Amino acid sequence: MVSTARAGGSDPAAIAGLVERTRALTPRPFGVNFIVRSDDSTPPDPMCFEMAARGATAVELFLWAEPDPKLFDAIHRDGALVICQVGSLETALAAERAGSDVIVVQGVEAGGHVLGTLGLLPLLCDVLDKVKVPVLGAGGVSSGRAIAAVLAAGADGVRVGTRFAAAAEAQAHPIYQQALIAAGAEDTVYTEAFSVGWPNAPHRVLRSCLEAAQRYQKGEIIGERLSLDGTRIPVRAFGVGVADRETTGDVAAMPLWAGESVSGVADIQPAADIVRELSEQAEMLLRTFRVDTMNVDSASDC
Ligand SMILES: Cc1cc2nc3c(=O)[nH]c(=O)nc-3n(C[C@H](O)[C@H](O)[C@H](O)COP(=O)(O)O)c2cc1C
Repeated sequence: MVSTARAGGSDPAAIAGLVERTRALTPRPFGVNFIVRSDDSTPPDPMCFEMAARGATAVELFLWAEPDPKLFDAIHRDGALVICQVGSLETALAAERAGSDVIVVQGVEAGGHVLGTLGLLPLLCDVLDKVKVPVLGAGGVSSGRAIAAVLAAGADGVRVGTRFAAAAEAQAHPIYQQALIAAGAEDTVYTEAFSVGWPNAPHRVLRSCLEAAQRYQKGEIIGERLSLDGTRIPVRAFGVGVADRETTGDVAAMPLWAGESVSGVADIQPAADIVRELSEQAEMLLRTFRVDTMNVDSASDC
């Protein structure tokens, strides 16, 4: 996904440029992701959504606010699908009513910012019972086993985040990637601590980065990163910027976003290998599951 955070938030020309660059890099479908906040004093310019919808296959909304059906209509008119990531049944139903084409259900196990408080399976089961549009499961999914479980529950697919932060192509800083490899599922925390520039937004990070950040005063400069316009800007303690390859300073004290799925990160792998490994494992498990189910059925027929 092209992230609006990296596109400078609310700059339609920057989004159009990123979409054009992505188009030039791949003939495949791609999406543009927007975080929709109710507390946003400067919500994205409507032109941002227009630029995204004209060039991308899908516009994805990380829904921290009531979905606006007029926005969905405008995205559809410009030719893109709407995907909504939600953290509650209530928002899933509102997203479907507003015209979302796909719903991503995010569980509290997820890495990065976290929309709700329920675990993926209880929320997913509730949503699957009540909505008709395709549903994907997100949060804690980093193995073929987890994918097979989500698909067996009735979802149409999964969204995987943390595992790809450790992909060879990811821009994540090497210190961040090594911390992901070293961590297990119990090494993440759900917190609101990284809040400079974005308060009241729960998220999940590695516990190690929270402990390292606690050595600093909130807002203290702990490093530098590259902004979109090419200038270097300060990184502040408890800020929300991701530690990418251009970041310098105390990277270990910056928010190292990670889901409980971090247990599935064992190595730096090309993204294609991760996709292949996950889908092959999941297919094998689902095939075994189907054969076992058929055996149970035929045994009960005897
Ligand atoms: C490093 C990182 C950055 C993320 N950035 C975004 C984002 O910009 N927009 C968004 O909708 N979700 C974002 N997410 C959340 C994912 O969409 C997804 O819900 C989550 O990664 C799923 O859980 P998992 O990390 O356990 O796979 C991010 C997650 C991670 C780990």
